[in-house]
Amino acid sequence: VAVAREMAAGADDLEALHAAIAGFDYCDLKKGARSLVFADGQPTARVMIIGEAPGADEDRQGRPFVGRAGQLLDAMLSAIEFGRSSEANPVYITNILPWRPPQNRDPKPDEIAMMLPFVERHVALINPDVLVLMGNISCQALLGRKGITKLRGTWTEALGRPTLPMFHPAYLLRTSLAKRDAWHDLLLLRAKMKSL
Ligand code: URA
Repeated sequence: VAVAREMAAGADDLEALHAAIAGFDYCDLKKGARSLVFADGQPTARVMIIGEAPGADEDRQGRPFVGRAGQLLDAMLSAIEFGRSSEANPVYITNILPWRPPQNRDPKPDEIAMMLPFVERHVALINPDVLVLMGNISCQALLGRKGITKLRGTWTEALGRPTLPMFHPAYLLRTSLAKRDAWHDLLLLRAKMKSL
């Protein structure tokens, strides 16, 4: 973690941060992954969305949220007229882990802790007005709290910024009743961005 913190701190822009992660050899996930999945969307965005880790599709394409969950995320964002390629309301998207865990298993606490300095630096470089945390893993990493069912739907704070925990779109794909809650949260996000 100390090495990660040092390497992250030395990254002065996104390119340097990407290179620092690519050159970080202490996380075992790197060995099993095909791609480093860094980010997508627009670095100037005021909304930064943080997911969990790449899945098979993301590992293949090297971009976050491009599989089924990612398609749902795009549809959710477009319902409030946001999107990774939107001009008026762009978002920037990344994950807690840049490498796919084997068989999509949950990331381990030590893997999360090890990569966290890079995530924190990533947030500092993008400097968004708000963070959106998708699912339990990113809430655990950045809020130190689990329990997305209780956390979602209320603004809180992470890294000194207004932060909205939401259900992960992969969860929404399995749990259609939760889509009502997701819609509620999207409206919260839209209202917040209008007010800022
Ligand atoms: N799920 C995530 O949390 N992130 C991705 O990039 C894809 C699926």
